[in-house]
Amino acid sequence: MITSRRSFVRFGVGAASAAAMRWPLTGISRGSTFEPFRLKRDDGLIRLNSNENAYGPSTNVVDAITSATRSANRYPRMEYDALVERVAILHNVKPEQVLFGCGSTEILRMAAFAFLGNGKQLLQASPTFEGIERYARAAGSEVESVRLTPAHAHDLDGMLARAGASTGLVYICNPNNPTASLTPRRDLENFIVRLPASTFVVIDEAYHHYAGTSGMYASFIDHPLDDGRVIVVRTFSKVYGLAGLRLGYGIGSPRTIQRMRNFATEDSMNAIVTQAAAAALDDADGVRDFVRRNANDRQEFFNEAMTRALKPIDSHANFVMMNTFHPAEEVIQHFRRNNILIGRRFPPMDTYIRISLGRAEEMKAFWQAWDMLPYAKNMMHH
Ligand SMILES: Cc1ncc(COP(=O)(O)O)c(C=O)c1O
Repeated sequence: MITSRRSFVRFGVGAASAAAMRWPLTGISRGSTFEPFRLKRDDGLIRLNSNENAYGPSTNVVDAITSATRSANRYPRMEYDALVERVAILHNVKPEQVLFGCGSTEILRMAAFAFLGNGKQLLQASPTFEGIERYARAAGSEVESVRLTPAHAHDLDGMLARAGASTGLVYICNPNNPTASLTPRRDLENFIVRLPASTFVVIDEAYHHYAGTSGMYASFIDHPLDDGRVIVVRTFSKVYGLAGLRLGYGIGSPRTIQRMRNFATEDSMNAIVTQAAAAALDDADGVRDFVRRNANDRQEFFNEAMTRALKPIDSHANFVMMNTFHPAEEVIQHFRRNNILIGRRFPPMDTYIRISLGRAEEMKAFWQAWDMLPYAKNMMHH
């Protein structure tokens, strides 16, 4: 008793110095204070690696962000409710069918924890956006990945063949990241009705606005199936230019959304983004402008590629994937040495690189660096 009492007392008085010993503040001289905050300086890197909007946010949205800073001291609960209402009206659903998250990443996390777990399986394409896979594993699930077809669509027959009673969730990314390719709408409908009744389906429409209006594509929000197992995911990170503020949402049936909501982080939405998102939804001209710029940048990319006899995968998004016929990692490092960040590796497409479309001057730098690749001149042979 005495010993433990003494050690308790010692811990009590010595806590501060003990903590300092455990976390030594090396490199900080005695008596120094923290440097005052300074805005981050431009690091000169060209960012073609995260499929962001290279131009956004629009001026209207920037104005909303600026004025929202003054309410940063308040929890944005009324603004949250207003934005839920807003998105519900936009998509012609009830407010209880709308679920916001800290980026669409949080929506993917909620879906994984709501519909997966030990003994359950996530079914997805390969390659596809990896966000949900991590959470599926964290929830204790197995992950089944099925190669895309040669046309870079989801291999829905192959996926059906792997689907069974233990398939808790199917993840469909359309347009798909990293290939920027589409899976035909009709095929998806036929696929979903054939899935086991207990299997939920997440359709990730992060790049919806860039997909255009071909007969191949229709949003599952704008043209919903009457199916309580389908959850559609959208984000403010792409066309709206708000990746840095973190907001995404899911739309589904009230029951399905409630199951996911149980795993939401309470108050994960911030006072700035609620205002920014409302302004972004109001700014139809801004969205149209970003879509038009992206179409131009995409066309320009394909023109440049063509002059070099390169054949990128047809893009329905704000990024392009193409075969370099060389190890992707080498190409990625080559660009990195030239201060250009391009997409990560996407196994099993080990000779492909993914390039997010940037501004004209950024793309000029990209092609200059491309032409410095030792084998750039020999690509004609492929
Ligand atoms: C298909 C897809 N889904 C989701 C995300 C996550 O985006 P965020 O969490 O910023 O909404 C990304 C990001 O690149 C993505 O490509």
